[in-house]
Amino acid sequence: MKLKTALSLALKKPPRTSDEFEKLPKHVAIIMDGNGRWAKKHKLNVSRGHRQGTETLREIIRHTDDLGIGALSLYAFSTENWNRSEEEVAALMQLILDFFASEIDELDAKNVRILILGDKSRLPEKQRETLIEAENRTRKNTGLRLNIAVNYGGRAELVMAAKEIATLVRNGDIRAEEITEQTISDHLYTRGQPDVDLLIRTSGEQRLSNFLLYQNAYAEFVFPTVLWPDFTVHDYDQALDAFAHRNRRFGGRV
Ligand code: IPE
Ligand code: IPE
Ligand code: MG
Repeated sequence: MKLKTALSLALKKPPRTSDEFEKLPKHVAIIMDGNGRWAKKHKLNVSRGHRQGTETLREIIRHTDDLGIGALSLYAFSTENWNRSEEEVAALMQLILDFFASEIDELDAKNVRILILGDKSRLPEKQRETLIEAENRTRKNTGLRLNIAVNYGGRAELVMAAKEIATLVRNGDIRAEEITEQTISDHLYTRGQPDVDLLIRTSGEQRLSNFLLYQNAYAEFVFPTVLWPDFTVHDYDQALDAFAHRNRRFGGRV
């Protein structure tokens, strides 16, 4: 482990043992849930809840990078979230622009590589361009892999992979018998990245809501009850500590 990482870890609370340093997940996925309830609790408009949620987002990305975790996948907007009011969808779309406008320089400077998970073609043009620009600008970066799911659905992703693989078979590039689990992985948005080790969903809900269905096959789940805008680096550390104490067996008997 890099000295810088070890030092920054040593400064975090709760303190970790050196054994736990090695037990950090390689890939963390977060379902950032509870913005609406947070807004309601504070008698604010739902868009204020989402805006507050982006403050949490900044902190959590920074902390993930400080810890030296390799990949972070964040659920920002699902294929089902189009079902919300026009006003709320517009607020979320605006937040995407604001987030990248304020963060992209720092993320790029920190060598973060951004990847958008999801179908960008259905997004408004400005958002689509902003996301593509962020991907292109950071494409050669070699630090934290930051995956942001926008208009993402796990089932839609599997349909996309099936279509791509079917095309390869039709063109004679591979034979149907040669399709393996790796072939499927290689046609997901997250291709080349490790599967999710730790999935965190805030706000007490305990479901996947169509997030990274294939990649979460053997993930450990942690469900803090805190609402996303109230989720702190300390809560994140607690989830990481819980992960460090899990006994992952992958079907074996270890
Ligand atoms: C999660 O917060 C953010 C998005 C879905 C974009 P919610 O808006 O779902 O918050 P709750 O579940 O209504 O509290
Ligand atoms: C999942 O949260 C999507 C995101 C966090 C972006 P939702 O709040 O939309 O999920 P459900 O509707 O409670 O399952
Ligand atoms: Mg929700």
